[in-house]
Amino acid sequence: MRFSIAFVSWLLPATALATSNSRVLKRANDTDYVLKKGPLDTPWTEKVGTNPWPEYPRPQLQRSDWKNLNGVWRYKNASAGDDKSPPSGVVLPEPVLVPFCLESALSGVMGSHNIWSWYQTTFDVPSSWTAGNRVILNFGAVDYEATVFINGNQTTFHRGGYWSFNVDVTDYLSANGTNELLVFVYDPTDKDNIQIPLGKQTLDPSHIFYTPCSGIWQTVWLESTPVEHVTQLDLSADMNGEVNMTVHTSSNSSTLVQITIYEPHSTDIKATARGRTNGAFQFNVESPKLWSPSSPTLYNITVKVGSDTIQSYIGFRTISHGVINGVNRPLLNGEFIFLFGTLDQGFWPDGIYTPPSREAMIFDLQTLKNVGYNMLRKHIKVETALFYQACDELGLMLIQDMPSLRPSVPVGPALGDCQVKTQPVANAESQAEFDRQLAILIEQHKSYPSIITWVIYNEGWGQAHDRTHPEFQLTDLVRSLDPTRLIDSVTGWFDFGAGDFHDNHHYPDPQCGTPWYSIQSTPYDYKRIAFQGEFGGIGHNVSEDHLWKVQKAINEINGTYEIDANLDVWNERAHFLLSELRGQIEKYDCSGAVWTQTTDVEGEVNGMLTYDRRLNRMDQVQWKRDIQALYDTAAARAANSTTVMQMADTLEGL
Ligand SMILES: *[C@@H]1O[C@H](CO)[C@@H](O)[C@H](O)[C@H]1NC(C)=O
Ligand SMILES: *[C@@H]1O[C@H](CO)[C@@H](O)[C@H](O)[C@H]1NC(C)=O
Ligand SMILES: *[C@@H]1O[C@H](CO)[C@@H](O)[C@H](O)[C@H]1NC(C)=O
Ligand SMILES: *[C@@H]1O[C@H](CO)[C@@H](O)[C@H](O)[C@H]1NC(C)=O
Ligand SMILES: *[C@@H]1O[C@H](CO)[C@@H](O)[C@H](O)[C@H]1NC(C)=O
Ligand SMILES: *[C@@H]1O[C@H](CO)[C@@H](O)[C@H](O)[C@H]1NC(C)=O
Ligand SMILES: *[C@@H]1O[C@H](CO)[C@@H](O)[C@H](O)[C@H]1NC(C)=O
Ligand SMILES: *[C@@H]1O[C@H](CO)[C@@H](O)[C@H](O)[C@H]1NC(C)=O
Ligand SMILES: *[C@@H]1O[C@H](CO)[C@@H](O)[C@H](O)[C@H]1NC(C)=O
Ligand SMILES: *[C@@H]1O[C@H](CO)[C@@H](O)[C@H](O)[C@H]1NC(C)=O
Repeated sequence: MRFSIAFVSWLLPATALATSNSRVLKRANDTDYVLKKGPLDTPWTEKVGTNPWPEYPRPQLQRSDWKNLNGVWRYKNASAGDDKSPPSGVVLPEPVLVPFCLESALSGVMGSHNIWSWYQTTFDVPSSWTAGNRVILNFGAVDYEATVFINGNQTTFHRGGYWSFNVDVTDYLSANGTNELLVFVYDPTDKDNIQIPLGKQTLDPSHIFYTPCSGIWQTVWLESTPVEHVTQLDLSADMNGEVNMTVHTSSNSSTLVQITIYEPHSTDIKATARGRTNGAFQFNVESPKLWSPSSPTLYNITVKVGSDTIQSYIGFRTISHGVINGVNRPLLNGEFIFLFGTLDQGFWPDGIYTPPSREAMIFDLQTLKNVGYNMLRKHIKVETALFYQACDELGLMLIQDMPSLRPSVPVGPALGDCQVKTQPVANAESQAEFDRQLAILIEQHKSYPSIITWVIYNEGWGQAHDRTHPEFQLTDLVRSLDPTRLIDSVTGWFDFGAGDFHDNHHYPDPQCGTPWYSIQSTPYDYKRIAFQGEFGGIGHNVSEDHLWKVQKAINEINGTYEIDANLDVWNERAHFLLSELRGQIEKYDCSGAVWTQTTDVEGEVNGMLTYDRRLNRMDQVQWKRDIQALYDTAAARAANSTTVMQMADTLEGL
């Protein structure tokens, strides 16, 4: 809508106004945006249009006055140091569709090596917004560094590709009229072997590393807030109805907070409470319905501080671990719950890191939920707030990985003796930055009920494992920031005993809490929860229609752990592997597992769904039955006290 007028005049910033020389520039024709033809699309690609992701972007801290800035912006490939001279007032040459990263077809740029970039748009502040209020500019995520200019003035700088940030731009707005927003982005990805949190992104995609995402990749928006306003809400609510809340505000004052909790999907009030800002306070809600995957009850809440009113929600549940009949188990609301999920990478052929739409994002989640998965391992990526809200609402538990640094050891079976192989990992500077961003992950996501576990390191990527074992200190850090969840300190390979899980990766067959191990794994440590952080990964090649049409990726398809001749064989193999897992649950101490993976990604063809989401490989009746059998077996095993202690005795003897 903002761009339906082809020519919009805009005013130059303060400098120009001050000299009463308000040059009026002609705005470029924004209808030059064209959806690029990428290597593969999805059923949603064509439906995106130029008003993408219109949803309110921050469900746990909602205000009524807001304005979405997504849409067609201007873009220019830049160079190092260009941020010293922002091209203010000069219309940038190319269109880009925000919030799709520069490598994506949906962005309309589909570039590569987008190391330095300029983004530009204009906005005005709705006249209906209360005079005297502050105007806050919010970014969902920009990969990797962003320097933000309003009307030519730098307002903020942010580092870290996965985190939301905002800036109070009130003092930079033009007195009357349209404002120019420029964002300078630097994203090295893995250029010159730099070590930054980046997950599976690489400038040179191959096999299990994929097309990178550079620039703005989540919603950009404005909101109007009172001068004294809530900046962050920390919410946790447990199975006993105890709510622990911290209401951070723009000042450090201690002022009254008034809370109203509503009955689910109703205007009836369940409870009210009071507290004070900028410090934790607790209150009790009588007999709440608890949150669980089978009954994901949420309660809407209103938080009032002065003239600021926030809508949010909470879910009551407790995550812990305990010994049930001699076995260390993850507990949800005091009871053992077997965790079964997919490795969920969150890549899209049309949007790369950004799903084409909320509907598309929900489609993946619903596909998993339909066959009985109760969990997802969000793999070395962080998603939009709307993703976490969707998991809260659908009842999907999340194991949330910290986005990894670049792997510094050979990956896969070539690893060899995992205890010995050491290569340079993070240096002191990149380690400090990793640690800083890990804390942000926890701080920004600790209020979602669906998240049950944090993962610090994946398969040793970026993990120092020769002399130092940073995962012990980092486990303490995460525990101090969030004592309400479990910590899977290292998922796969370089395990020296930190955290709550003994987490093994093994392909294709599982080795979950078993009294045997092999080259890629370590002997089961029964003092922690036995978990299979990755297994399965069996593949099935498809016709070119469903493939990422990049020759290098196609050539690497046979690097997938296993390729099955056809879908019947693939389903048969899945049945076999799930039966094997079930056997390990029955006989040994397995408490959960992660099947690789939700979808194909580029040259990997081992998804429940193909990369384009057009083919669901699962024999759904069979998968549903096999997954239910895992839960049933786990429940029976947990209730059986006969063999368990013997198992511990056996392991003690190892
Ligand atoms: C804008 O560009 C489109 C496509 O190039 C063209 O069809 C349209 O006429 C242009 N509009 C104006 C107002 O110049
Ligand atoms: C940007 O410029 C760099 C250096 O000239 C080039 O390698 C890269 O391909 C360009 N990117 C785009 C998207 O044009
Ligand atoms: C913006 O930049 C101009 C020119 O450098 C300066 O005069 C003005 O004070 C700046 N405004 C703010 C709010 O920083
Ligand atoms: C700008 O000023 C003019 C003249 O005072 C006024 O008519 C107009 O409503 C103002 N626009 C905004 C966006 O404040
Ligand atoms: C409440 O949460 C804060 C951190 O947000 C924590 O320090 C405190 O220990 C918690 N209090 C209770 C009673 O759980
Ligand atoms: C709040 O307190 C912190 C630490 O005492 C201080 O650094 C910060 O400037 C204060 N902020 C405001 C708005 O007073
Ligand atoms: C919370 O409020 C929203 C907006 O009114 C509503 O759509 C949603 O159903 C409510 N959710 C619950 C759990 O009550
Ligand atoms: C997979 O299928 C594609 C096209 O359908 C083909 O080009 C490729 O060679 C196949 N690869 C393997 C390993 O079967
Ligand atoms: C995998 O495919 C490539 C390209 O098609 C081929 O050169 C290679 O021999 C294949 N490897 C195996 C193990 O089949
Ligand atoms: C408990 O475990 C023992 C030993 O594995 C087995 O013989 C027995 O059938 C199990 N009982 C139940 C109720 O599953």
